[in-house]
Amino acid sequence: MKNAKGIEVLKDLPEGENQRIAELFWEAFGSKYKSLYINKDQGIAIVRDSLRFDQGLYACLSNRVVGFLGFHYGSHRFTDFRFDVFRRQFSLPGALLRFSILTTFLPGRIKEPGEIRIDSVAVDSELRGKGIGTTLIEEAISLAKKMGFRSIRLEVIDSNERAKKLYERLGFKTAKYVNFGILARGAGFSGEYVMRRYL
Ligand SMILES: CC(C)(COP(=O)(O)OP(=O)(O)OC[C@H]1O[C@@H](n2cnc3c(N)ncnc32)[C@H](O)[C@@H]1OP(=O)(O)O)[C@@H](O)C(=O)NCCC(=O)NCCS
Repeated sequence: MKNAKGIEVLKDLPEGENQRIAELFWEAFGSKYKSLYINKDQGIAIVRDSLRFDQGLYACLSNRVVGFLGFHYGSHRFTDFRFDVFRRQFSLPGALLRFSILTTFLPGRIKEPGEIRIDSVAVDSELRGKGIGTTLIEEAISLAKKMGFRSIRLEVIDSNERAKKLYERLGFKTAKYVNFGILARGAGFSGEYVMRRYL
């Protein structure tokens, strides 16, 4: 059902939109992968072949997908990078190096019992600030409740103050701050906030 702003949130990604989601993902998060020397085409292909689209929510406006939100709980993970996908883009040593660095930094296990994690959320850069992100997160909160989770968590890098404010407005509170120290050098941020909302 569409909300007052004409935004509809779908659980199933409309057919043929995998590439579009991968492009939106890369537009929003590609800069994080710069230090791994993954170019845009390689990045989009890796994302398209890695994402578990059945673990996402999709915001549509005028029949166009304009944003997504991915979940992570148990062994279900929207951003599910796999070595074979990297191997399609890089030589064996190149794939091994990039894959091991990347998976070392991906937030891992969910330790809090009954918790679901927002793995990633992004909106088309031309349509930000129009309530699409809010709609996606509110829908995620409502779905998480229906699924019986007790809390919902996400992480936000410390240079993304606007996103942090948005999450605070939606009831998330900072649970801890993780400083990446030397590991984040040159990445444009120093660490991330882990934020949680009880349901
Ligand atoms: C964060 C994001 C998903 C929010 O979606 P959105 O549709 O712009 O959000 P809404 O319109 O519902 O809410 C607007 C609020 O989002 C926050 N926001 C964060 N980044 C923003 C951006 N680039 N443009 C506009 N709003 C942004 C602000 O708090 C804004 O509130 P304000 O207008 O009072 O400053 C979206 O801006 C985005 O895709 N950013 C890039 C990817 C990203 O940072 N993802 C989050 C990683 S934790």
